[in-house]
Amino acid sequence: MSETQTQAGIEGRKAPPSEAYAQYMCMICGWIYDEEQGLPEAGIPPGTRWEDVPEDFLCPECGEPKSMFERIDI
Ligand SMILES: [Fe+2]
Repeated sequence: MSETQTQAGIEGRKAPPSEAYAQYMCMICGWIYDEEQGLPEAGIPPGTRWEDVPEDFLCPECGEPKSMFERIDI
């Protein structure tokens, strides 16, 4: 019996594109940090990932820390 195993099957599933930017919203005032925009006036260049935003980042509107932000999906 010759069984040809052409079934290499498992097609490489692609992870979601890592280029997709996310937005994070301040739960206190609703201000939104957009990774694509960054916050140049606070020294955060456009394209900066939320995890790369300094831990001492404060909401420019109400002064709450990063921990008060939640990721939002549009
Ligand atoms: Fe805020």
